[in-house]
This record gives sequence, structure tokens and C-alpha cells, in this order.
Amino acid sequence: MEIRDVREGFEKRIRKENTAFFHDQIKIYRKMKVLVATEKPFAKVAVDGIRNVVEKNGHTLALLEKYTDVNQFYQAVADADALIVRSDKVTKEVIDHAKNLKIVVRAGAGFDNLDLEACTARGIVAMNTPGQNSNAVAELVMGLLVFAVRNFYNGKSGSELMGKKLGILAFGNVGRNVARIAKGFGMDVYAFDEFVPADKIEEAGVHAVANRDALFEACDIVSLHIPATAETKQSINYDVVNKLHKGGILINTARKEVIDEPSLIKLMGERTDIKYVSDIMPDADAEFKAFEGRYFATPKKMGAQTEEANINAGIAAANQISDFFATGNRKFQVNK
Ligand code: 3PG
Repeated sequence: MEIRDVREGFEKRIRKENTAFFHDQIKIYRKMKVLVATEKPFAKVAVDGIRNVVEKNGHTLALLEKYTDVNQFYQAVADADALIVRSDKVTKEVIDHAKNLKIVVRAGAGFDNLDLEACTARGIVAMNTPGQNSNAVAELVMGLLVFAVRNFYNGKSGSELMGKKLGILAFGNVGRNVARIAKGFGMDVYAFDEFVPADKIEEAGVHAVANRDALFEACDIVSLHIPATAETKQSINYDVVNKLHKGGILINTARKEVIDEPSLIKLMGERTDIKYVSDIMPDADAEFKAFEGRYFATPKKMGAQTEEANINAGIAAANQISDFFATGNRKFQVNK
């Protein structure tokens, strides 16, 4: 039975027997307002899917897309019970404006855009949807790599990925998908993840290396899949990237914050063989652009921008919210 039917059942009972019990039940099953706030919108088909899940569960959907001013976000969230976002920043100010908010779901993997402390302080449950967009990001890694080794399609002879040594830094959902696809290209794949034991990496047919520096030393290309945390921010610097083989490529589809941009710029000035390809526009885009033919950044983060990823992550978020309201399920909570 769907939540909407349960609620309607209680409403009928209230009309017959006006008891406190049925009033309490109605409160539990009341209609919740779910706001989707996406500066970079989901594909329409994904929004339709989210709406379907939300309404099927007896709730209502509000949509704020392509907003240009944070005040629009503050206004839209004011009466929302639940919030679905992508990379949109859910700051303390957003939380302060969201008087009814009970749950926020980041439709995606990285939740560095959520102020978890502010959520916890207000008793708001914060979740992500791990794994839902990882194939999309992994496919983009391979697309950007082909683009890079073919000299950004400038017409000159480039090289092939087959036989190249690819290092994957962090072997989570995206890293595993990159390994799977890269093996199809005939690449020799290596990985390091401080939280994944070497035997788990080897089980996936990937060479496990002892630490991050050993990964850079062993490889022609390194693909970053680390989250942005206090430990990882600015951790990819001159000394680390300098360990790459001659003609090395650093590819970043994770977060710009993990790069120490000034020191990478210094290195690229000294080592004219190194390329940097990023799915997140660096702060120092203008300076990187000076390395013509060795630098490329997507104008907007494109990793998860596929209909499939939008559907997977968006619908997972809608289901997690509906489930939370119906049963209290907190499986994907990240602010425990
Ligand atoms: C993620 O963390 O899931 C990806 O970076 C995707 O971000 P996006 O939803 O803003 O495209």
C-alpha cells in the first residue's frame, strides 16, 4: 500500500471517529514538500522520475533550477521538509532559512557541499546516493584521456591508451568503474586507496601499490578519485605530480580543492611534458591556459551529466527521502 493511500485511510477514519490516535497517525503520514534545488539541472526525464516517486508517496515536489542568486534558494527552501541537491552549497545560511527541513540528500557521491555540522545541530539528516553516477564519471575519464593523448584533437599524431600505465587514486565506486573500462582499452591498471586493502584491489584485476607516491612513480597517467577532506585538500602538489613518467597526464574528475594549484602550475612550467585535464574548472584557469596543448578543463562539471546518472541519483534521492518519511530508514546518512 502506498503512503498516500494510508494517509487517505486515516483521513476517512478521522471523519468517522475523531480520535487523537488517528490525528497522530495523520501527522506521521502527512504530505511533505520535497524541494529539488539544482543550479545545474537534472535531465527532464530524471525530474519526471523524481516527481513520480515523490507524488506516488503522497508528497509534493517543488523545483528550483538554474537559480542565479542564493536568495532564490533561501526563499524556495523556507517551507521545504526535504531537499535534493547536486553540487549546490547547503550552507548554514541555507539551513537557517529552512525552518521545516528534516532531510537533505545530495544526489551524488561527494557531500563536501553540505554543512554537516549545521545539519546535525538542527537534527537534519544528511545523505548521499553513493555509486549512482559512478559509471558516468568513469566514462568521462576515458573520454577525456583519449582527447588528451590525441593532443586535444589538434590534427597532429598523438598516442594510444593501450599499454599505458594508469594509476587510480582511491578505489571507490568511480575508481572501480575506471579500472573496468580502462582494462577494455588494454591499459595496465594500478590503484591505491588507504581504506581499501590490497587484496580487494588485486581481486578486481588491478595492481595494488603501497602508497600514493608509489602510484605516481609507477604510472604514465593518474586519475584522481579522492574526496575533498581536510586531509586531501591541496595534497596533489609539485612533488607528487613530478613523480609521473615522462609525458605524464594528471586527470581530475574529483574536486578542484585536492590540487595545490600554484605548485602544479610551477611544475607544468618546468616540465613541459606534463598535461593536466580537469572536469572541475580550477581557480587558476587563466594561468593553466598558458600551457597551450597541455591543459583542458570542462566549462561545467560534466562527470555526472548524463540522463542515466541523473535518473539513477535523482530517483535514489527521492526514494531515500520517501523511505525516511515512511519508515525512518537512515541507511545513507552521512552526518551520524
Ligand atoms: C558527485 O560527487 O557525485 C559528482 O561530483 C557529481 O556532481 P554533480 O551532481 O554536481 O554533477
